[in-house]
Amino acid sequence: MKNNTRVERELALDFLRVVEAAAIESAKTMGQGDRKHSDHVAVEAMREVMDTVPMRGRIVIGEGERDEAPMLYIGEEVGGGNFSEEERGQFPEVDIAVDPLEGTNLCALGANNAIAVLAAAERGGLLYAPDIYMDKIVVGPSCRGAVDIEASVEENLKNIARRLGRDVDDLTVICLDRGRHKKLVEEVRAAGARIRLISDGDLSAGISAAVAGTNIHALMGIGGAPEGVITAAAMKCLNGEIQAKFVFDPERLGVDRSKVPTFEQMKDRLAEMGITDPDKIYDTNDLAPGKKIIFAATGVTDGALLRGVRFFGEGKRTHSVVMTTDTKSIRFVDTVHVEGGPDAVIRF
Ligand code: FBP
Repeated sequence: MKNNTRVERELALDFLRVVEAAAIESAKTMGQGDRKHSDHVAVEAMREVMDTVPMRGRIVIGEGERDEAPMLYIGEEVGGGNFSEEERGQFPEVDIAVDPLEGTNLCALGANNAIAVLAAAERGGLLYAPDIYMDKIVVGPSCRGAVDIEASVEENLKNIARRLGRDVDDLTVICLDRGRHKKLVEEVRAAGARIRLISDGDLSAGISAAVAGTNIHALMGIGGAPEGVITAAAMKCLNGEIQAKFVFDPERLGVDRSKVPTFEQMKDRLAEMGITDPDKIYDTNDLAPGKKIIFAATGVTDGALLRGVRFFGEGKRTHSVVMTTDTKSIRFVDTVHVEGGPDAVIRF
């Protein structure tokens, strides 16, 4: 049996191939205005390459339940496709959270910050989160322990500013541009901080908040719970912090009460998933408790951290980040996928 560190290193490179493939296929559809199609091709590509990875993988966050998603559905077993039953028995058991195209609208419109992304961990290393909303706050390493999702926006911003040795008006908060964030936006403005409102993609926005030099100092607001879990996996690698809490209240979500499940129905659904306290505040470790986490993302369109896929006559070029907790590495990977045969010219 190979030692665990070696397995993690090798799997990290396998997962790189997985997100690269999803990014390339969805990038081909950029700007076509069909978000479902962009997502579909990303899923297909991710599924195909995922199956070549030597692991006994299980999707814990994916495209939905089996009935609605033919591929990468929650509970689907993936990996080890080209290997014998005996070989497969030796492979590590891995839980995987996938978002083959995070920012489907961004890709469909050719806007910035669409990515193909996944997180993996040993069995049980990622929270099995339902596809509902979560309130989130994400900060980088210097602000770990300085924020509290239950505290006021003003208090959190003061604490972030103190940790970063600057004034509140030197901070930028990133937040999804949604009606439900009206109060949050007012509070950020009243506190004096700057704000960047984005149309989609709170996962890559959360990562930006945890990386120095992006000029984003916190992500705040309500987005998808699956994105929250994958963000937590990234935070474990980047030493950042996420706190999050499920949100069901239609008023906070700005939706019609008759169009969403009641609190009691939500409670039952969560209980089925093993979540007994719907009001729990989740920290990074609750969302991604794994000790051996791998996070991999490839840019589909250009973004703050990653460039989008570039196509040229003799191939494609992708820009990715692969991070691991156990072997503590953050690799930015610039890959040229050469297709032009022996005469292909590769530029630096
Ligand atoms: P998709 O890639 O699935 O379209 O999600 C994009 C996204 O903006 C996420 O980043 C975010 O967490 C979620 O949608 C917010 O949901 P909503 O658009 O319903 O507010």
